[in-house]
Amino acid sequence: MLGAQGQLGKAVQQVLLRNGLPFTAPGRLQADVTDTDKLNALLKSFFPDFVINCAAYNDVERAEQENERAFCVNAQAPAQLAEMCRRQRAMLFHFSTDYVFDGTKGDYYTEADCPNPLGVYGASKYQGECDVLAAGGDFAAVFRLSWLFGEGRQNFLYKLEDWATRQKTLRISEDEVSIPTYTGDVADAILAAAAKRVGGLYHLASTGCCSRYEWAKYYLAARRLQVEIVPVPMSSFPVMARRPLFSPLSNRKLSGVLGCGLPSWQAAIDRYLADIQNSRVCPADLR
Ligand SMILES: NC(=O)c1ccc[n+]([C@@H]2O[C@H](COP(=O)([O-])OP(=O)(O)OC[C@H]3O[C@@H](n4cnc5c(N)ncnc54)[C@H](OP(=O)(O)O)[C@@H]3O)[C@@H](O)[C@H]2O)c1
Repeated sequence: MLGAQGQLGKAVQQVLLRNGLPFTAPGRLQADVTDTDKLNALLKSFFPDFVINCAAYNDVERAEQENERAFCVNAQAPAQLAEMCRRQRAMLFHFSTDYVFDGTKGDYYTEADCPNPLGVYGASKYQGECDVLAAGGDFAAVFRLSWLFGEGRQNFLYKLEDWATRQKTLRISEDEVSIPTYTGDVADAILAAAAKRVGGLYHLASTGCCSRYEWAKYYLAARRLQVEIVPVPMSSFPVMARRPLFSPLSNRKLSGVLGCGLPSWQAAIDRYLADIQNSRVCPADLR
């Protein structure tokens, strides 16, 4: 596995451990995905059946100024990785995002819809998914995720929790709509997809969709945090990167292939909170 220390990487490790599956999970220092020679040597020494690439350049705002770095980590490196995996006949699982879409469809996006990224991050991820599928052929699968949350600090729920402890009123966008998706559910789905050796492009998100405001409201109520939340338009935030306003992903194709549905976004949050309660997710992330 690559990018093992990220929020998805940690969840995938937990699922593999729980299922008693052998794996190796080097962090960025041991396996920088942009270091092709090192990666090649690593793959040749382990000869894996599967490579799960959770590494990514994920800073949507900073990507606007670090175009080259974003494309290097999100497009060029995964393309080379896909080529190496195909040569070694190892299956590559790679991840992309709903930010490949411009948000103008007005309905759930399917895998057949044409991407049109609005910012550098989305463009780099779109280039990455195209190149991975082209280089990897039957040995590659790309899963588009959205509004990922789980263990770690780089997600909306962590920030929300943090703001709620320091502010009396929170302003949250009500016109930004997508699907909150739990890393634990993604990891379970990935394992099921590996068992069926699924290849190609899939949308992997919870079922249903909501605004960021509804997401915050549900979470804060579940956590019984007393804070006022005010719905505001996305345009009231001074951001550099343009984001899709309506980008829910239809998970129908993947659910059909796996033979089971994905949980609702509310159930996903409930499971996350239960996992924290049962210490399956690091409680240090919640105060
Ligand atoms: N987070 C979301 O809301 C979201 C939404 C849709 C799709 N996705 C996609 O889902 C996947 C997993 O995201 P995530 O939220 O788990 O990301 P994350 O928490 O930011 O983890 C990404 C990991 O990649 C590592 N990394 C960065 N550059 C690297 C390099 N050159 N070589 C090796 N490792 C490197 C990072 O290490 P450092 O910490 O040292 O930088 C970090 O551990 C990504 O493909 C992402 O684009 C995420």
